[in-house]
Amino acid sequence: MSQNANNSSKAPKLFLDPAIADYCEVHCSPESETLRALVAFTAEKRSDFAVNLSGRSVGQLLKLLVGLSGAKSILDIGTFTGYSALSLAEGAAADAKITSIDANPVCKEQAQPFLDQSPDGNKVELVTAFVQEWLPQQPDARFDFIFLDADKHRYPEYLTECWRLLAIGGLLVGDNILWGGHVVDEQQSTRAQAVDAFNKAACSLPNATVVCLPLRDGLMLIRKTA
Ligand SMILES: C[S@@+](CC[C@H](N)C(=O)[O-])C[C@H]1O[C@@H](n2cnc3c(N)ncnc32)[C@H](O)[C@@H]1O
Repeated sequence: MSQNANNSSKAPKLFLDPAIADYCEVHCSPESETLRALVAFTAEKRSDFAVNLSGRSVGQLLKLLVGLSGAKSILDIGTFTGYSALSLAEGAAADAKITSIDANPVCKEQAQPFLDQSPDGNKVELVTAFVQEWLPQQPDARFDFIFLDADKHRYPEYLTECWRLLAIGGLLVGDNILWGGHVVDEQQSTRAQAVDAFNKAACSLPNATVVCLPLRDGLMLIRKTA
């Protein structure tokens, strides 16, 4: 969904002039037919939560980064209707594997048909699990690429686990790290506090290169260098 196509209060705050944000959104590679169908399905069937979907510019950036990095083992935290999982799959090598987790079983039911329609869908395994339970069960240094986009109040806890799971040279991308701009509020909400704590902890990681991008609701790029 274009970030400016939705004027509801749930739409992410824009950090750019709206005309420039729209210009950037449409001057990205076009979405595949399957991604477009998934966006239309989400707008119709999950309309209350359609803003959850990461959208064209973030999706194309994920596709670009996963392709550049050559990641083979990829983790997508927060499936929703499968937009980020499919974007990652479209950018990943033919022998890459993407594990996408969501606690809500409806997400698997809704995302799987779109994966089945896509030539890249067989790279994705959908897992129904709570992130906070599933992550600690995984062995160290297992993933080359992680996209974090689940419950924000647990972001600091997820950073610790994701860092343990990330291979050297791997990339962790955190979504919504500006939390609608509320990370700079004097009186932060619980979620804004958690996201701010995640951002500060990311900047203090040893052996990391960290970049905070004001794209859509903000992305944190964290590369493990040693
Ligand atoms: C923002 S949406 C993910 C959007 C998706 N990445 C995309 O690009 O369309 C967040 C998802 O995280 C899931 N979620 C939230 N907390 C979770 C938890 N503790 N464990 C597993 N899934 C969780 C929600 O069910 C929701 O589908």
